[in-house]
Amino acid sequence: MQKTVNTSMTTVEIPVSGLEKGMYVSGLDIPWLKSPFMYQGFEIESKDQIAELQEVCNYVLVDVRKSTNKNTERGMETYAVPVEEELEAANGIRDTTKAMVKRLFHEIELGKELDGHAVQETVLDTVDSVLRNPNALMLLSQIKNKDEYTAEHSMNVSILTAAFARHLKMPRKHIDELAFCGLLHDVGKIRVPDTVLNKETKFTKTELAVMRKHTSHGRQILLASNGILMPALDVAFSHHERLDGQGYPRGLPKEHIPQYAKVVALADAYDAMTSTRCYEAARSPFEALTIIFDNRGTQFDTKLAELFIEFVGVYPAGSIVEMSNGEVGIVLSAHPTQKLKPRIIVVRDPQKQACTERVIDLRWDDSDFAGNKCGIKQTHPDGSFGVHLHEYMNKGLRIDMPGSSEAVA
Ligand SMILES: [Fe+2]
Repeated sequence: MQKTVNTSMTTVEIPVSGLEKGMYVSGLDIPWLKSPFMYQGFEIESKDQIAELQEVCNYVLVDVRKSTNKNTERGMETYAVPVEEELEAANGIRDTTKAMVKRLFHEIELGKELDGHAVQETVLDTVDSVLRNPNALMLLSQIKNKDEYTAEHSMNVSILTAAFARHLKMPRKHIDELAFCGLLHDVGKIRVPDTVLNKETKFTKTELAVMRKHTSHGRQILLASNGILMPALDVAFSHHERLDGQGYPRGLPKEHIPQYAKVVALADAYDAMTSTRCYEAARSPFEALTIIFDNRGTQFDTKLAELFIEFVGVYPAGSIVEMSNGEVGIVLSAHPTQKLKPRIIVVRDPQKQACTERVIDLRWDDSDFAGNKCGIKQTHPDGSFGVHLHEYMNKGLRIDMPGSSEAVA
């Protein structure tokens, strides 16, 4: 059956099991004419009305502005569109951006100038998507392809930086600038020989010095290019500076490190740690955030690090999570104010075998298939228990909502 409800900024989709008196019902998942209700829109005044709704619907739309029950407001989705709706656009943006980054980097290798105007245009699409719902691009940024690390890392840092800036409620202009800076922060790696860039064992002193030169190379490449936003020079040059003055290339004291470089440094470290690199396996989001927390005040700006951890949350979109009953799922989205209770799609049964996929929203439903209470036990890196995020995205992530047969491509 086709899902019939649509959400907007002022309405929230609530399963009938979560209905309470004082909620204003503005939509049903069946046509009004097929329901026993005379009015298209009413405030729930009795338990009988809740029972009637539970009889005929799986989900209803509740209008937050018209509800007198304040629990409604707490559950309100604050994104302009649901993550499932944004995924298709986000997929296209990701493909376009990756192709552009690879083309631009190749052109620099050939000695051409970098086309900053093309970067600015592409970045606008990324920021548009992040502003509609950051979970979509962030979920896709969890899909990592080791062979395309530099291009994907650049893109992911741009997305994470833009989403973090949105979380910090920065003006649009600053979000655009930061997304631009994030995309080009490591452009200097083009000048680092592959033998160093792809080395699987520890660097020698000389190799480390060669690798660290990517910050100076980046600044030089951007200085010689067209259409470059000035803060990108600072970020390319200073994103490895540390708060304790032990960073490179200049060992700047904390008050001299540009603010944008401090922001990009967090996104850079988080994406790098959650990716499989030639010399290190991917860490789970939780492990990466723990490391950021432990290094706040020495490597990272303390306040920004704490805000970044709050922004990513313990269970970011795309996380592989193991439930207390042994089931395994993928996080689809986390509500901004209830990050410990995300929506997940369950893909493995308690014995870690493939199972019928189902979506549960832990805000409303914390029971497993047997009716027992369950919650998230821990996060795992992509690929754990044979769950590879890219496979689910490639085959069209199935979202089995009650009353719906949507597939998310
Ligand atoms: Fe770097």
